[in-house]
Amino acid sequence: MSTAPTSPNIGTPPPPGRIDIHSHLLPGVDDGCQDVDESLECIHRLIKLGYVGTVCTPHIWHEAYAINNAVNVREWTRTMQQTLDNEGIPYRVWPGGELRLFEKFIDYYKDREIPTLAGGRCVLVDFWADRWPKWVNPIFQWLRTRGYQPILAHPERLKCTKELDERMREMATIGVWLQGNFQCMTGQEGFHADLFIRQWSKQRRYNLMSLDMHRPESLDARLDGVQLFEQEFGAEMLDLMTITAPRRLILGLPS
Ligand SMILES: [Fe+2]
Repeated sequence: MSTAPTSPNIGTPPPPGRIDIHSHLLPGVDDGCQDVDESLECIHRLIKLGYVGTVCTPHIWHEAYAINNAVNVREWTRTMQQTLDNEGIPYRVWPGGELRLFEKFIDYYKDREIPTLAGGRCVLVDFWADRWPKWVNPIFQWLRTRGYQPILAHPERLKCTKELDERMREMATIGVWLQGNFQCMTGQEGFHADLFIRQWSKQRRYNLMSLDMHRPESLDARLDGVQLFEQEFGAEMLDLMTITAPRRLILGLPS
């Protein structure tokens, strides 16, 4: 397995357990949890399943979410951690973001702070397109040359299905990591997502898997995906994707 590009400063290491690295847990900042009660409801359910922490990755896209940026996400995450500590809930949260790629991304971020996962060098990104846009690869290369580790969120959900397998090989060449969504195991994200997630999991092409949690009402389906993943690929593979990989790759911990 690859190692973390740099060790982020995460403070006291979390206790043993699963870490979710892609989550819309922060209340009221995007289409994820709408208030603190929803966030706490999700966390209580995750704790029961062995999760001990979450990297909070609200959508970062100025056109839809004007105030979502690195500084604010850090502050909101600090507030969330305070709430958890005050309530005596043993759960850790770290700041992050799910950055939307767009044509002028490089111009936009040239002089702005790029939100990273847990303050390290990993950058979680997504985009949507029916055909692979020509500006995507240069953005990944730009991030790589600046010492960032790009992670493409849920590539199995992209609609450019005919070229997708080949594009993912290109991503590996550039050094982009892939993060799959457990929910795609359920078929609810469509035929191709269902197909690709199984194919790429079997071929061990994902670096990380995540819940991409939004609101409590959609959590069951996401957790069904975890169960299916375990049934098909085994408990060891599930632990690798939810314990070992997030700790080592994102938090910079030994395992
Ligand atoms: Fe997401």
